[in-house]
Amino acid sequence: DSFFHYQNGSLYCEGVPVSEVSKQYGSPVFVTSKASILSQYHAFEEAFQSLNHLTCYSVKANYNLEVIKVLVDAGCGFDVNSGGELFRALKAGAEPSKIIMAGVGKTAEEIEYALSTGIMMIKAESQSELILINEIAKKNNLVAPVGIRVNPNVLAETHPYITTGDSEEKFGIDETLAEETFSLIKRLENLNLIGLDMHIGSQIFDTLPYYEATLKLLGVKNIAESMGFEIEHIDIGGGFPVTYNAEKPATPIAEFAKKLVPILSNLNAKVIFEPGRYMVANASVLLTKVLYRKQNYKDKIFLIVDSAMTELLRPSLYKSHHDVLAVAKKDNEILADIVGPVCESGDFFARARKVGDVQEGELLAVMSSGAYGSVMGSNYNARLKPAEVLVSGDAHKLIRKRESYEQLIQNEML
Ligand code: LLP
Repeated sequence: DSFFHYQNGSLYCEGVPVSEVSKQYGSPVFVTSKASILSQYHAFEEAFQSLNHLTCYSVKANYNLEVIKVLVDAGCGFDVNSGGELFRALKAGAEPSKIIMAGVGKTAEEIEYALSTGIMMIKAESQSELILINEIAKKNNLVAPVGIRVNPNVLAETHPYITTGDSEEKFGIDETLAEETFSLIKRLENLNLIGLDMHIGSQIFDTLPYYEATLKLLGVKNIAESMGFEIEHIDIGGGFPVTYNAEKPATPIAEFAKKLVPILSNLNAKVIFEPGRYMVANASVLLTKVLYRKQNYKDKIFLIVDSAMTELLRPSLYKSHHDVLAVAKKDNEILADIVGPVCESGDFFARARKVGDVQEGELLAVMSSGAYGSVMGSNYNARLKPAEVLVSGDAHKLIRKRESYEQLIQNEML
């Protein structure tokens, strides 16, 4: 796309040659385009502009403080899934009144923390959780603004690990229990039910499951209203797809809008969206250096790079496709396995992939690494979390330092 492109044979992020970034900060390093994030945000806002809505970026996709800040400044709201994510959103300057909290297993501490900050609403995922929120609110002399995450029981086709809206999964309260749940809320005096919510999964290409699930959610809204509740927010979740592989282009956001806007306009409620991946997936690349190039049995070429599943788990965990580009453009291609240094056979970025004929010491860019990249990173093999850099126009700045050996052990006692 236009935010990452070749210029004179060299890969650029906006106006900065990415090789310059790694020269300054080493590798591996995540390089993120600020303009790409803003362009996605604006595309999303444009698609749904006719609706009274608030877009709440799902920070789990990428919660670097500066990434959140870019969206704070743009006017976005935020969806958090834990106390830690709430802490990050607030540190980055998000207004509590624009934050919603989800999570299938919130602890009492997390609920108390969330209530103390005055966020817009906590989305409960079970009747027991509602009882706990009520107790905590009572103890603190407040009324908790809550939403109910409804499990609409639709099947959305995606990777089995990231489908969430069918009745076989752990998420939400079954739609058939809505009425019973509302009766419970009536008895809980320190709860104010203001929202209904769903999230059917992630990287969903088909608009139909959204449509069907939204209709179900609106049915649940009718039940709530008939029982005397005023539902201010209808939250249809995230999951909007992005293109990882040009051969499988994502359904444009406008298609989702075309299908959903007609059933969501003229509601006496604000519509909330929770896109994560859509905002950030294609905004970052992971730069990594080829350490060794070796040939094993049957002429198979391995490119062993200095980054691993510890920085980008998606290929190992979901067999996800990420394009891999030579930073210095090559005329010839080779067929190679691109693998990391971690002692797991599953530690790979790509297998049997056509890639530029790079030599040892040269850089590769693992594309579309902005969502569920850095945030799913680990220290396995006592590897150091990489540096992160934000590019804007011709300028770039460090937004996360590379971890040090000392930081690796800072919480341990000997
Ligand atoms: N809202 C809720 C309640 C969610 O659980 C999620 C994602 C989102 C919003 C944002 O979904 P998005 O718009 O990013 O698809 N690690 C996986 C994705 C897991 C998604 C978990 N929930 C991956 O790398 O593909």
